[in-house]
Amino acid sequence: MPRLRGAARSKLAQRAEVVLDRKGIRLLNADVLSVGLEPSSVDLIVTSPPYGVDIKYATFADDLPYEAYLDFTRKWLSSCLGFLKSDGRLCLNLPLDKNKGGQQSVYSDVLQVAKTAGWKYFSTIIWNEQNISRRTAWGSWLSASAPYVIAPVEVVVLLYKGTWEKASKGESDVARDDFIAWTNGMWTFGGETRDLGHPAPFPIELPRRCITLFSYVGDTVLDPFAGSGSTLLACLETRRRGIGVEISKTYCDLIKKRLTQAHLFERRLDEAPGDPASDVQAGPSSSAHRTRSGGS
Ligand SMILES: C[S@@+](CC[C@H](N)C(=O)[O-])C[C@H]1O[C@@H](n2cnc3c(N)ncnc32)[C@H](O)[C@@H]1O
Repeated sequence: MPRLRGAARSKLAQRAEVVLDRKGIRLLNADVLSVGLEPSSVDLIVTSPPYGVDIKYATFADDLPYEAYLDFTRKWLSSCLGFLKSDGRLCLNLPLDKNKGGQQSVYSDVLQVAKTAGWKYFSTIIWNEQNISRRTAWGSWLSASAPYVIAPVEVVVLLYKGTWEKASKGESDVARDDFIAWTNGMWTFGGETRDLGHPAPFPIELPRRCITLFSYVGDTVLDPFAGSGSTLLACLETRRRGIGVEISKTYCDLIKKRLTQAHLFERRLDEAPGDPASDVQAGPSSSAHRTRSGGS
């Protein structure tokens, strides 16, 4: 665990590589199960893990049997809990349920696993991504024999480590109307196109809202499954420090390209040294640019 394909397996079993580390945005090509981040250093995690629905990722085999998938979930949730400050939070984007490879209540099962791993539950946002393509599988058409029912929504589960209330004051930059709209836990906006070069990206709007609503300017935000880099791009926009961990070198290259081509990235390079997002510290292992991996 995790299940990597071919050469990627042996390569990442041995090391984690710093792909980018400029002006508060740090990207690591690494396995989240073995990456060495500084304990209690992260304010907010925003992420969308693999869903276990056989998505064709570049190096990662997304086809674990469900029990093994929940075991992987427990492991990464435990690791990430250690990276969080005591008032740290997690915005966890998941499907409500799945029917590929058998019906499973993913949201409910992952939430139970998270609580067992030590996370505390706050609430859940329903993301209505209006993906009507999901309604093409009807099961038994016009028959009560075995019709399929699926809600075209995903969820963002809000979890925290110790206290939901933040321990210190900081600069909040959420606008009045956004605060009113986003604290209504029904979010409606479309998903992201796969043309980005990644098979399962979420739109920047999702991490942008989570980051703006749940963290202060200058806070450290981690995405342990960075994918196409949407969370890091949102960090760039919102003046947060960003750490991304991504197991696939292909996607790390994509993230680096998206970030360095972003207009804001060059602007951020020109900012004064006092910029709160300019001095992300390397974790103990990653500062050496090498970690051992327990991945198999
Ligand atoms: C659902 S995608 C994340 C998409 C991301 N939210 C975005 O907007 O592009 C999950 C990502 O996790 C990566 N991944 C899978 N196992 C991993 C692991 N053990 N450590 C780090 N990354 C992993 C996959 O390569 C994939 O890019």
